[in-house]
Amino acid sequence: MAATLAPAGKSYAELLVLYSDPDTCPADALAPVPLAQEPAFVSWQQDIPRVYLEMSPEELDHRIAAARARLGSKLVILGHHYQRDEVIKYADFTGDSFKLARHAAEQEGIEYVLFCGVHFMAESADILTPEHVRVILPNMAAGCSMADMADPDDVYAAWDEIHEVLGEDARIIPVTYMNSAASLKAFVGERGGLVCTSSNADRALRWAFERGEKVFFFPDQHLGRNTGYAMGIPLDEMVLWNWRLPMGGTTPEALRKAKIILWQGHCSTHQRFTVEQIEKARREHPGVHVIVHPECRWEVVQAADSYGSTEKIAKTIREAPAGTTWAVGTEINLVNRLAKQNPDKTVFCLDPVVCPCSTMYRIHPAYVAWTLEALVQGQVVNEVRVDPETRKWSLVALERMLELG
Ligand code: 13P
Repeated sequence: MAATLAPAGKSYAELLVLYSDPDTCPADALAPVPLAQEPAFVSWQQDIPRVYLEMSPEELDHRIAAARARLGSKLVILGHHYQRDEVIKYADFTGDSFKLARHAAEQEGIEYVLFCGVHFMAESADILTPEHVRVILPNMAAGCSMADMADPDDVYAAWDEIHEVLGEDARIIPVTYMNSAASLKAFVGERGGLVCTSSNADRALRWAFERGEKVFFFPDQHLGRNTGYAMGIPLDEMVLWNWRLPMGGTTPEALRKAKIILWQGHCSTHQRFTVEQIEKARREHPGVHVIVHPECRWEVVQAADSYGSTEKIAKTIREAPAGTTWAVGTEINLVNRLAKQNPDKTVFCLDPVVCPCSTMYRIHPAYVAWTLEALVQGQVVNEVRVDPETRKWSLVALERMLELG
């Protein structure tokens, strides 16, 4: 669902009607406002002490800075590239999900990680840090709709059904995208598979094909398809598993032929990008470079000049010659930041409608202030903790990925 952002002066009821349309992305979005004025708040924000609701952006900024200073080196703040400017400015480390996982794993001597990102990232940080390190997600409602498309029970059932068709000895390696529940990371770890991110999916698939004949890839069909295709696997050797249908809506023949079985999941933000938008950008900006995230559809990735993780997108534009023009197919907070950080280039979003990742956007500065001030009082709120059994196998799957680089 698209993020829902506030036009001023609307009532709660009006906002609910306005934002019940998932395609509503008002163009006056992204200006910092108190949490209570952000309509996202009305539908899916977590409870927070009322005192934080009306705090101005300036007051929140001041309070976050003060709490951060008091916590000192006990705390590290990790910030994903999709976080808004008012939040990312406090991150000790920023990055794509791979880089942030690596930073979490490398920290020494800390007690707390405040993860400004989404739930699966905080879970991974908990798995990768020592037991005593407490990982905090400022707003527990910051999940990932794509990760939610792979319900663990559906994945386990699919795994069994696939083996019923292909035989118990079929050499299938499960690979889960980082954007998935810790229990699925444990599932792949226990079955000889691994985790991947958008920055190492090609290496992860190669690793898997060195050990098996087929890959079961979830939850993002687009990352799996784009990566498989770039490795030379034809589209008709990648079958889509629709978890809503018996036998995934596929056939035994298609499963036997497939090199990759793709889960039918997607990212709503990246699915908004289209080939038509790319054609328009090329018409209106001759010489434009189009760079997109591999969570975009296959035809969009094919029509683009290049693709890569959020970190790769940022690096490519940073290192490009002055005077070049970039149309970017990823989340708007990152695109706007890249435009600001690269004033010698023209950088714009392929999608003309302002549309942040609705779940990343749930980390409003009010939640950062609340969780940090609680920590200063010795209270851990919004802790993300993975149980020991899940931790054991998901760590195996994450470490296999970290070894790939
Ligand atoms: P990156 O690893 O490229 O930052 O992507 C994370 C993500 O969730 C994109 O939607």
